[in-house]
Amino acid sequence: MRTKKMLNCVGLSIMLIAVMSVCGWSQDSYKDQLIAKYPFYSTATGRFAPVYPALAKQIVQDFGITKGICVDVGGGCGCLAMALAKITDLKIYNLDIDPWAVRLCNVLVDEAGLTGRVMAIEGDAQNMPLRDNFADLVVSRGSIFFWPDQLAGLKECYRILKPGGVAYVGGGFSRILDPEIRDELVKWRTQSAEEHGGLESAGWRPITRELLRQARKAGIRHIRLRREPTVGWWIIIRKPAQ
Ligand SMILES: C[S@@+](CC[C@H](N)C(=O)[O-])C[C@H]1O[C@@H](n2cnc3c(N)ncnc32)[C@H](O)[C@@H]1O
Repeated sequence: MRTKKMLNCVGLSIMLIAVMSVCGWSQDSYKDQLIAKYPFYSTATGRFAPVYPALAKQIVQDFGITKGICVDVGGGCGCLAMALAKITDLKIYNLDIDPWAVRLCNVLVDEAGLTGRVMAIEGDAQNMPLRDNFADLVVSRGSIFFWPDQLAGLKECYRILKPGGVAYVGGGFSRILDPEIRDELVKWRTQSAEEHGGLESAGWRPITRELLRQARKAGIRHIRLRREPTVGWWIIIRKPAQ
């Protein structure tokens, strides 16, 4: 009788382990499928991994916005959004046009224990599915260079900003990133641009003074460009408080 009970118990445990490992396996394989469909994940979590915590820290130091709503436009798999969520009380919407990046971001957010703090949404920077005056802070790293209509994207960033809000849109690294890591990244970026016959031939649109002129003409009066060779090209937009 006792042996039979023990056998039942062992059988049940084996079944449970089998079910758990099948679930675990399918979860991993779903994540792997998403990673395969969003190749930038390997750069973001590899070479670029130290960039996001440094950039998040710099954004907090520069603008002092630590609560309310933040939108990361073209946020990819959510590395900057998660880094910001870890050091602030911001609720962050990570918007991206790529549906695989959006799905992957939600998996990574759950893994990081940030469910409900970072929300991935699918959308186009040039026509965001967000209401006017929504965000205290808008950030965007490495995405504007791929927007076919950069002016439309900047106008959208401005539209969704609350009065008194700030947008930090551009590309590159961070002023407070370890200089040794930054120099390595700049070297790598220069080399890979050369290998691809220049960034622009790979569909990369630079930020120009003309873009800023057009933005001012469109009513975005408080806009300026911070260009630092080893740090990047960053546009700062402020929406005046009413
Ligand atoms: C180089 S990745 C940078 C991702 C992320 N910001 C980061 O720094 O890890 C560029 C991202 O911009 C997104 N993107 C490109 N065009 C976009 C658009 N029109 N609207 C929203 N996202 C866009 C891409 O899908 C991609 O995830």
